[in-house]
Amino acid sequence: MRTTVGIIGAGPAGLLLARLLRNAGIDSVVLESRDRAYVEHRQRAGILEQGTVDVLREAGAGERMDREGLRHDGIELRFARQRHRVDFPALTGGRSVMVYAQTEVCKDLIALQLAEGGPLLFGAEALAVEDADTDGPRVRFRHEGREDVLECDYVVGCDGFWGVARTAIPSELTQVFERTYPFGWLGILADVPPSHDELVYARHDRGFALLSMRSPSVSRLYLQVPEGTDAETWGDEAIWDELERRFETADDWRLQRGPITQKSVTPMRSYVHEPMRYGRLFLAGDAAHIVPPTGAKGLNLAVGDVVTFARALIHEREKGSADLLEAYSETCLRRVWQAERFSYDMTSLLHRAPDATGFEDRLQLARLERIASSRAAETDLAQAYTGFPFD
Ligand code: FAD
Ligand code: DHB
Repeated sequence: MRTTVGIIGAGPAGLLLARLLRNAGIDSVVLESRDRAYVEHRQRAGILEQGTVDVLREAGAGERMDREGLRHDGIELRFARQRHRVDFPALTGGRSVMVYAQTEVCKDLIALQLAEGGPLLFGAEALAVEDADTDGPRVRFRHEGREDVLECDYVVGCDGFWGVARTAIPSELTQVFERTYPFGWLGILADVPPSHDELVYARHDRGFALLSMRSPSVSRLYLQVPEGTDAETWGDEAIWDELERRFETADDWRLQRGPITQKSVTPMRSYVHEPMRYGRLFLAGDAAHIVPPTGAKGLNLAVGDVVTFARALIHEREKGSADLLEAYSETCLRRVWQAERFSYDMTSLLHRAPDATGFEDRLQLARLERIASSRAAETDLAQAYTGFPFD
């Protein structure tokens, strides 16, 4: 099998890249190890930055998002039983975010790819990327019990944190920057209308809590839990009781309860693999970097990477210059490190470490007070949350 761009992984990064390349008349093949239902139902991100929304629209993949997605013009910060709203458009010159689940982005892109795009093979597991430092990189993969080879001009590893693409970069050229956190997020989906019309990020002495949503009738909520927690040890009523405590306000706000339809625990880590390119192998999305979910940046970073790659390849095709392809890693890493910084700041602002002292608690409250009382501090948060424009 032969193609111009071999794409490993059909998460948001791989699927959007295939769409961008198809729109530019460049052929690709997508290899995805899981089946379609798994990819379409894996519960993950919920927030799309303004730039991501714009890219999906331009790619012709924004029709259902514009119909069913919920535009959000702010978030609420909750601490010391007080509520503070951050108004995005007022602070950023009109920017906002969209609540539209990653599952739905993937469903839309898969439907478009199958109808109009090149091959998208489910159940096709990449085993290794070979000859990445030559003009003819190859992906060895297994599909329907048979081993095969995909010959490419370029390979893009969009295969997430546990993928194989990264391992093709020699370790002596690689630097890894990593931090783990002593807590995770217990996430639930519940059949109950969201108790607030915008997201609520709550700092509490018992730990962080987040109220989000998937639709006007489905809530998505998260609780900070100790690292390694088994979701099954949390009964439904215990989850609601704990959420209620952490969201408690001095006014008459109430948390609505409903049937919990899904629960799982996500570990938290910060991770950056440098470089993001080796010869004709490019890494994009979670394959190259992970952020803790507090800033809602992971999916948006993946989008930034594949937009950068697609632009660079189109530039090479039109201008005959590989400059942008060669600059891919540096270009992406500038944005990646800004998101790492923001996600780390939001995480440490809102979570309670198991060994936190009273001093650290007071500092967190002072930082939150500062955001609530200084337009400069609040603007900094709003700009980073809604996302910096793509380069
Ligand atoms: P993935 O979505 O991980 O896709 C990689 C794909 O590659 C998978 O389909 C996998 O099956 C496939 N694959 C792996 N190995 C192979 C192989 N060997 N061969 C073939 N295929 C392979 N981000 C945000 O922007 N906003 C949020 O609000 C947000 N909230 C989050 C909440 C939670 C609870 C979690 C867990 C994450 C959240 N994120 C959020 C992060 C976001 O979900 C990820 O950053 C995003 O999925 C990255 O997309 P990706 O395409 O790079 O990787
Ligand atoms: C969601 C996830 C996040 O990480 C976040 O910061 C906001 C919302 C969500 O899944 O809805």
